[in-house]
Amino acid sequence: MIYTLTLNPAIDRELTVTEVQYDSVLSAVKSQVDFGGKGFNVSRLLKSMGMPSTALGFIGGRTGDRLRSGLQALDIATDFVVISGETRTNISIVTEKHDHYIKVNEKGPLVEESSQRELLDKIASIAGPGDWWVLAGSLPPGVPDSFYAQIIAILNEHKAVTILDTTGESLRLGCEAKPFLIKPNAEETHKLTGLPVETTAQIVLAAKELLKMGAQNVVISMGKKGALLQTADESWLVHSPKIQEKNPIGAGDSMVGGLVWALSQGYSLKESLGWGAASGAATASMSGTEVGSRALIEELFQQVTYEAL
Ligand SMILES: Nc1ncnc2c1ncn2[C@@H]1O[C@H](COP(=O)(O)OP(=O)(O)OP(=O)(O)O)[C@@H](O)[C@H]1O
Ligand SMILES: [Mg+2]
Repeated sequence: MIYTLTLNPAIDRELTVTEVQYDSVLSAVKSQVDFGGKGFNVSRLLKSMGMPSTALGFIGGRTGDRLRSGLQALDIATDFVVISGETRTNISIVTEKHDHYIKVNEKGPLVEESSQRELLDKIASIAGPGDWWVLAGSLPPGVPDSFYAQIIAILNEHKAVTILDTTGESLRLGCEAKPFLIKPNAEETHKLTGLPVETTAQIVLAAKELLKMGAQNVVISMGKKGALLQTADESWLVHSPKIQEKNPIGAGDSMVGGLVWALSQGYSLKESLGWGAASGAATASMSGTEVGSRALIEELFQQVTYEAL
């Protein structure tokens, strides 16, 4: 079974206007709502591949209810911890020509210690050997930086396999708990290690530094340049297929989705990253928040190439 965790989800509301103007009332020509969360994005990619997953996290209030029913309508199973605060709403105002935008994210509701405990207990009660867990995204207010590390310790105890996709201190502490794999992008890697990430040789050194921090395997994604896989004894550069890029936001989440799908099918880490690159490229070629279809991912997978370093 595959589980995805989103600790600070949001309803994302995007309003399209002809022009952005201050101090006047703008009329929206289009309005769209999405269920925002990096773990949810992974579940959506898995759904594209025909693979069920269960989405976990904290939700609250009417916005939380809406999020749950929205995910269920997409045929994604949910198992949330309900909190007393209201799930956040993030607002984007974009111009029709896509030349300007304003995006305002709420911080998200405070998550009390009792709710954090409830989630840890829930994870301990459902985690089983060989299950795949994707932990993705930032932490809501009140949740300590060590929270992912605590979750990974529980998952390791239950012999479940963890993929961690987060940033900063929670990633550093998460690494210490020895997750199976982490997937920062190049910039996140630079911020965490302080090392340069301009050349392939530098990226390999930075990935090895992340291994030293405790991650068992490291994937560093580099947008259209593809991704590096660093294991204890192998380095592979995976060249992503060429696509017409429309919206690269969320490509990393789709990469994680394609990767965990392939791992769950028994592919090697290297080939699984190939599926991840194809999935990331497929999503980057779609407009808006759409994720790539299985047919497109399969087609792009044929174009992935691997280079041993
Ligand atoms: N323009 C592109 N062309 C081909 N492949 C792409 C492109 N953009 C992304 N990809 C694929 O998707 C993978 C993940 O993209 P990226 O490195 O941008 O992730 P990210 O920064 O974590 O994104 P996010 O956090 O917004 O989901 C890349 O390693 C690559 O394989
Ligand atoms: Mg990312």
